[in-house]
Amino acid sequence: MTQQNDLSYGKALEYWADIPATIDGVLGGFGFISDLDIAGSKLFLKSLFSLKDPPASNIALDCGAGIGRITKHLLLPYFQSVDVIEPDEKFLNTITEFVGEERIKLGNLYNVGLQEFKPDKKYDIIWNQWVLGHLTDEDLVSFLKYCRNALTQNGIIVVKENVTSSGELERDDKDSSVTRSLIQFIKIFKIANLKRIKQCKQTNFPNGIYPVYMFALVPNNIEELKSKNHVKLEN
Ligand SMILES: C[S@@+](CC[C@H](N)C(=O)[O-])C[C@H]1O[C@@H](n2cnc3c(N)ncnc32)[C@H](O)[C@@H]1O
Repeated sequence: MTQQNDLSYGKALEYWADIPATIDGVLGGFGFISDLDIAGSKLFLKSLFSLKDPPASNIALDCGAGIGRITKHLLLPYFQSVDVIEPDEKFLNTITEFVGEERIKLGNLYNVGLQEFKPDKKYDIIWNQWVLGHLTDEDLVSFLKYCRNALTQNGIIVVKENVTSSGELERDDKDSSVTRSLIQFIKIFKIANLKRIKQCKQTNFPNGIYPVYMFALVPNNIEELKSKNHVKLEN
């Protein structure tokens, strides 16, 4: 894995504390791509509901939710209830108002970083978008393992993140984050015992920004069983 011991959770929080609680704010000045982003995510989510063993549509978790852009426009229309995790208090306090009429379907609003989060219930979909670059590899693997154990039957973890075109890890000191390559993500998923069942590149985004990939991940039960020595696999 890559080493990113210099990522600072405190510095990231200081950065976000100064950012206005608007769509343009949480998207770093790229608010104009929000509709395209949500349209791409809807297609992806619908493709998951069309699987042979689809996830249920009872409860979703929005990780690093910002002001609730994804909760409002993507998750609430499909799920009975949505929980959110967001460490910036100002963003978190904006969510209920931003969501509007559907606020009744909001569940728990967790004011913590993903590196500290320990789920105490199970979810049909756990959506992680434009946030995982704030976590070190070690914390990301551990967070994904918690998510893996917090899925309902047929539950799915979705990761939608920028990836580098260079194939290298790229750092951003301004908000204390990294952008990973496709290969780095794939390695991390493997270490977290997650299997990719779908992978798709977001289309129609403007040129000059990072490519954005969506991954649908489920527990890799074979790996799990192997590690518990319950099955022997032939080579
Ligand atoms: C680029 S914004 C994306 C917000 C939202 N996912 C969206 O797409 O609209 C990144 C969000 O991650 C949050 N964040 C930063 N560090 C975090 C951490 N360690 N754990 C969880 N969220 C974090 C920020 O406060 C901010 O709301």
